Amino acid sequence: MRIILCGFGIVGQSLARLFESRADDLYAKYALKPRIVGVFDSRGGAADQSGLDPGKLVSAKKKSGSVSDGAPSGVDMIQNIEADVLIETTASNYNDAEPGMTHITTAMKRGMHVISVNKGPLALAFPSLMELATYNRVLLKFSGTVGGGTPILDYAKNSLRGERITSFSGILNGTTNYILSNMASGLSFEEALDDAKQKGYVEADESLDLDGLDAAAKLVILANWIMGMKVTMPDIECTGIRRVTAKDIDAAAKKRCAVKLVASCDGRLQVGPREIADDDPLCVNGTLNAISFTSEHSGTQTIIGKGAGGMETASSILRDLLEIRQEIAG
Ligand code: HSE
Repeated sequence: MRIILCGFGIVGQSLARLFESRADDLYAKYALKPRIVGVFDSRGGAADQSGLDPGKLVSAKKKSGSVSDGAPSGVDMIQNIEADVLIETTASNYNDAEPGMTHITTAMKRGMHVISVNKGPLALAFPSLMELATYNRVLLKFSGTVGGGTPILDYAKNSLRGERITSFSGILNGTTNYILSNMASGLSFEEALDDAKQKGYVEADESLDLDGLDAAAKLVILANWIMGMKVTMPDIECTGIRRVTAKDIDAAAKKRCAVKLVASCDGRLQVGPREIADDDPLCVNGTLNAISFTSEHSGTQTIIGKGAGGMETASSILRDLLEIRQEIAG
């Protein structure tokens, strides 16, 4: 399978490593031979129709800070290279979703299937991107956008097939969960934020985590994909965690509750700090994500797991790649 990889940050490099370490196994088990024919980062691109060596790409990135070998990058690469699948891993942006939006739409118009772990384009234009995929008869996959390596979308869409999901609520942002968990252990908001920054959890633009935009983007994706709604970011009522005080956390603790940033769909689409009972399975700590789906016949089920991480997100891309392969073969 010929792949163009957009972005070569932590997720892109993890994917290259995964392709390298699992090459024999992927071929033996799934007859999958991923071939990166083009890759680019912010400084340039590298291309080879017979396939670039994933290990060498990682070394080049480490040594010089870029994969560039002088090949065209960005849209120029997508327009000029023949590939089966485009994998979009550039940073999420909720203003205009660029450059990911142009990468994805250009690829789909050229007949490439797309895997996106970039949430921006889906958060701002989920319904029209799905229409564009259908129109161009390509597949658009995005399982890593919600829950990272934890297959939240897959669980609701496939494991609960035939059920009617009536509502769901989840902790979908690991960074704010880490901050709120540490505030519950006595740290101030500033101390907890500094600690999260030092550990590398906080997005380059901290507002994406703290003001709830990342959680809202994930809620948009869930609402469209799981509930069949046609919504985008402006449809979410969103409040972040900046106003949560030690007093709020203490008051919750007295009621055997914890304050969490919850994204919910129960008639309204909302993101905001809520009190959750300590013994609710949703009440996870640290950087964990959790989501509870309530269905008409099978009740409430909760899925918990790590919601971020390079290798975890790379594993979600592999999942999507295998699904594309299977659907094409089918
Ligand atoms: N900033 C996000 C989080 C990364 O903290 O969950 C994963 O989308």
